Amino acid sequence: MDDSGFSTMLARLSEKSRDEYYNPYTKFTWPDTVPEDQWWMNPDYLTVSGTVLIDDEKTLKALARYETVNFFSLHVHGIRELMIEVAKRIHTPDFAEYNEYLHHFIGEENAHMWFFAEFCHRYTGGIYPEAASPLRREGFGNLWDDVIVFSRILIFEEIFDYYNSRMGKDQLIPDILREIHAAHHHDESRHVAFGKQLVKRLYDRALAADPDRREEIEKYVKDYMTYSVRSLYNPQIFRDCGVGNPLAVRREALSHPVREAFHVKLMTRVDRFFVAAGIFSTSWGTEHVSA
Ligand SMILES: [Fe+2]
Ligand SMILES: [Fe+2]
Repeated sequence: MDDSGFSTMLARLSEKSRDEYYNPYTKFTWPDTVPEDQWWMNPDYLTVSGTVLIDDEKTLKALARYETVNFFSLHVHGIRELMIEVAKRIHTPDFAEYNEYLHHFIGEENAHMWFFAEFCHRYTGGIYPEAASPLRREGFGNLWDDVIVFSRILIFEEIFDYYNSRMGKDQLIPDILREIHAAHHHDESRHVAFGKQLVKRLYDRALAADPDRREEIEKYVKDYMTYSVRSLYNPQIFRDCGVGNPLAVRREALSHPVREAFHVKLMTRVDRFFVAAGIFSTSWGTEHVSA
């Protein structure tokens, strides 16, 4: 395969990372408090948006706070675990040509973990604990494990970017939150561009060596997409916002037709990528998260 286009893109992204480098520890002006009577998330992006499961504003504003903590906690735990996988691969022969950019990736994700956790520790009771994942994470053979790791990163980043790109411009939410979303969106646009090209290359390499696992991998990646959507509906957010019967509210929200349509929208970009890359034979959009 002629990889000159990819090499040029890698060089361009690395240069951008260098030019746009910032000190995360001094970038933000942290206010003393973040008012609880403000919307920490636009209500349009809450997990119950479009349903009538919760209708009083006080509870919805509390939910917006806990959903913010959950969202930031998902980044901290998700990226910690994925950074370990990236760190295992950097400066190994199979990843030699990506070393330079992977250094930027690890550095930038380390910054993100810090500012997301910092927000939670300063203004709330801290981050939520990590939820146990039902999905195994390796054992597909080295080349397929590479595909799995970078596919998971890409899915994760596309979900974040859906929210970050919108909330980074949202005048309704407090300045510090808007700034955090905007900063993350700015870095992630590079990561997503890199991730798509890398996943495609890793996939082609794995498929050439071991074509028999194709269907198994498609199923795994789709299951990971489903699991990722479900993780937005952390049962604890419904308990913490004080709603009666939190588990029933969560269940009904997850399976609400408006929410199911939203899940498809949330995943459209990454779903299309997997189909176009030949990694999916059918789109994830036909599956149901609540099943
Ligand atoms: Fe990030
Ligand atoms: Fe990222």
